[in-house]
Amino acid sequence: MRLLITAGPTREPLDPVRFLSNRSSGKMGYALAAAAAARGHEVTLVSGPVALPSLEDAASGRISEKRPEVASTKNVQIVRVVTAADMLAAVKQHLATCDALIMAAAVADWRPVRVARRKMKKGEAQTMTLELKRTPDILKTIAPLKGQKLFIGFAAETHNVRAEAKRKLREKNLDLIVANDVTAPGAGFEVETNRVTIFDAHSEEQLPLLSKRDVAERILDRLEAKRKSGR
Ligand code: PMT
Repeated sequence: MRLLITAGPTREPLDPVRFLSNRSSGKMGYALAAAAAARGHEVTLVSGPVALPSLEDAASGRISEKRPEVASTKNVQIVRVVTAADMLAAVKQHLATCDALIMAAAVADWRPVRVARRKMKKGEAQTMTLELKRTPDILKTIAPLKGQKLFIGFAAETHNVRAEAKRKLREKNLDLIVANDVTAPGAGFEVETNRVTIFDAHSEEQLPLLSKRDVAERILDRLEAKRKSGR
C-alpha cells in the first residue's frame, strides 16, 4: 500500500521566537512509518518539528544536523512542516497518490490571530491576553476527498475517552480511530510506550501497554485486514 502518515506536533508562531504547540514528540507517528516501511509499504511521512533522529539516521546510527525539507530513505519519503496550515497543504498534496492516511500528528487546534514580525517586548505588563483563531481541521477538510481510501485517526483524551473516540470516528468519517488516554501511566505523549483502544464503527479492541512500535504493528494489522476485506 501507499501510506500517508502524519507525526509530531505543529507549531503556531506568535513572534519570531515564540509559538503555541503541544507535547507530541513524533514517536508514535515515526514508529508507524518505520513499521509500515519494514512491511514493504511505501510511506510518505509528513512530520511536524520533532527532535527525533530522522528515520534514515536512526537506521544507520548517525545523528544529522542537517534536516532537508524533503528527504527519503528506503520506502519512506519525509516531508517536514511547521504549522497546521502547512500540514494541511502537505496532506492535500500527497493524498491523491495514497491508499490510506494515518493521522498520528497532534495538530494544534488554535493559532495566534496576529503574528508579530519582531520579538514582542514585555515592558512592564504583568498579564497579557492572546487572541486565538481555530486552525483548519485537517481530517474534516479532506473528508470529501476520501473516496475508497482508508482513513485512520487518533484521539488524545484526558476523560470520556470512549465517548470522545466514537464521536471523532463518526464526525471525522474515519474507518478506525486509535484512542489513547494521555493521562494514563506509560501512554500518550513523549514516552516510548502506549496503551490504546482501536475503534471502528462496530467494535472496540483494547490493547495492553505496548511499545509504540508494537502498537504501530497492531494498527497496521487492522489496516491491512480492512483493506483485504474491502472495508
Ligand atoms: O508524538 P508522541 O509523543 O509519540 O505522542 C503520541 C500522540 C499522543 C500525539 C498520539 O498517540 C496521538 O494521540 N495523536 C493524535 C493527537 C490529537 O491531536 O488528537 P485529537 O483528539 O486532538 O485529534 C483527533 C484526530 O484529528 C487526530 O487524528 C488528529 O491528527 C486530527 N486533527 C486534529 C486537529 C486538527 N486541526 N486537524 C486534525 O486532523
